Amino acid sequence: MTKRAVVAGIGHYLPERVVPNSEFEKSLDTSDEWIRARSGIERRHFAAEGQTTSNLATQAAQAALDDAGLTPDDLDALIVATSTADLTFPSAATMVQAQLGMRQGFAFDVQAVCAGFVFAMANANALIVSGQVKRVMVIGAETFSRIMDWTDRSTCVLFGDGAGAMILEAQDGTGDNADRGILSVDLNSDGNYRDILYVDGGVSTNTTGYLRMEGKEVFRHAIEKLAATAATALGKIGLSGSDIDWIVPHQANIRIIQGTARKMGLSMDNVVVTVQDHGNTSAASIPLALSVGKARGQIKTGDLLVTEAIGGGLAWGSVVLRW
Ligand code: ACO
Repeated sequence: MTKRAVVAGIGHYLPERVVPNSEFEKSLDTSDEWIRARSGIERRHFAAEGQTTSNLATQAAQAALDDAGLTPDDLDALIVATSTADLTFPSAATMVQAQLGMRQGFAFDVQAVCAGFVFAMANANALIVSGQVKRVMVIGAETFSRIMDWTDRSTCVLFGDGAGAMILEAQDGTGDNADRGILSVDLNSDGNYRDILYVDGGVSTNTTGYLRMEGKEVFRHAIEKLAATAATALGKIGLSGSDIDWIVPHQANIRIIQGTARKMGLSMDNVVVTVQDHGNTSAASIPLALSVGKARGQIKTGDLLVTEAIGGGLAWGSVVLRW
């Protein structure tokens, strides 16, 4: 018997305010056409003043609990993947724990920027397969609008705010690829690429900062590394791209998503795409896409999925799971 971390519920939350590309035309030398053509983004959501990452995360978590038919009392742990926590400490995760009314278990944040949800799922999987916990709430939540330089047209048009949440629960499997749940994980990072994607401020440097990015460089690394990590995760269990029902990629740029699918030998019919509606929501993008993909009727019980993401660090990885 093999213990598997199986999806028991999924949900998401997007802030009310929707900002179309045309809004940026008022203050920047940019256009709806440029943003659509270069990124695939048409609109994004921005959090209201005073609305924090833990607020978005709590609403997504509640939606996942409702989907699973569970209550906060049923959870043993809660992980939030974020680079935009409300405060330096305590963690966003403990804030969500309190907002949900969850008094037991433990909560902590994972910070791997846009790859954060993949890293958080890997952590949750390790806690479950080692028998330490039965049920984990895994959340990706961000308010990237707080770290935008609104005068930099090459970055501020690309990002959005939101949250997605998934409940993983221990179930017994047979140990083969027919099992539901997480089947394989691949994680990577290389800190030598710090300068191509970073925030130029933080607590230990006594500064507040904004996101800085060498878009072309990140783009180049993204397609190569995303296809490679997906192939590695699939290869670990004797599978390849052709075995997959759905790629659920980090939603940064439609051209990266298309390039990665092409490299994996899959058509866009096998890809869940939400970047047009959400922009790049960093660690929130994969759980948002999973939740929307399920609601659209794309992702069904038994489907084989690969999720892959890359972000600041660089940090990148993928998770193969059967829904
Ligand atoms: N509107 C109009 N023109 C613009 C804009 C804009 N919003 N932004 C940049 N431009 C201009 C540039 O200044 C440049 O002008 P120039 O030729 O006169 O110098 C021109 O458009 C072309 O710029 P490029 O950077 O060459 O455009 P590119 O096709 O590479 O697209 C983009 C830029 C969209 C940023 C792309 O490189 C990209 O998506 N990169 C990856 C970004 C990404 O995925 N980040 C995710 C990781 S996120 C995380 O971890 C937080």
